[in-house]
Amino acid sequence: MSALALESHKEQALEEQVQGKFIVGQTLDVLTAVYQQDTNMVVWQRDSDAALQHAIDAFLSEKDSYKRNMALTPELALDTIHKALGNTDNVLPLSQNIAELVDMFCCLFELERAGLRLTILDSAMCPRFHVDRVPCRLVTTYKGVATQWLPHSLINRSALGVRAVKDAQDQSGLYQSKEDIQQLTEGDVALLKGELWPGNENAGLVHRSPAVGVGEKRLLLTLDFLD
Ligand SMILES: [Fe+2]
Repeated sequence: MSALALESHKEQALEEQVQGKFIVGQTLDVLTAVYQQDTNMVVWQRDSDAALQHAIDAFLSEKDSYKRNMALTPELALDTIHKALGNTDNVLPLSQNIAELVDMFCCLFELERAGLRLTILDSAMCPRFHVDRVPCRLVTTYKGVATQWLPHSLINRSALGVRAVKDAQDQSGLYQSKEDIQQLTEGDVALLKGELWPGNENAGLVHRSPAVGVGEKRLLLTLDFLD
């Protein structure tokens, strides 16, 4: 390798090192770190809330399956979500919590509307590690096992998308050890930068849905940019 090529290789390696950081905090304001160019995920670890937990349990006890996609403005979010969840007092804290996240998401990214998807899952929705072709997606697992992900610095991105024939979970070469696989926690609010975030090409957060145990349910909310 020539001296020039070596220098450019080193520069590229340095650029890669400063990309793909993840930041975790216990307060809402951590989410503004999404604007730091070197992050590809920020996580707000929320305190659990008894009223919200009761509402989630009430909702899950009433529904075996649920899948809803909605375009929401912050102004109409609460009314629309509460109707979609069944309009009962039991689930009101859940409706309020989702509406607060819609408001926060639209405010953070200066959006007029957010695209909401709320789903009860009893199996993994996207079991293979992948990146999302979106600018940024909010993900929170209200109940159940939460999203798994891989730190940018530990993966071989050239192995992304290579289909393993025998086992959908075996993405050989993408990561070195199963211990590299990280997992969010129930209740965490995460902003996952995708490949379409300016400057985040080839650094979108690599993640997957976890396997859901037999008889278990997972309540997953995602919010996306609209317009
Ligand atoms: Fe995804």
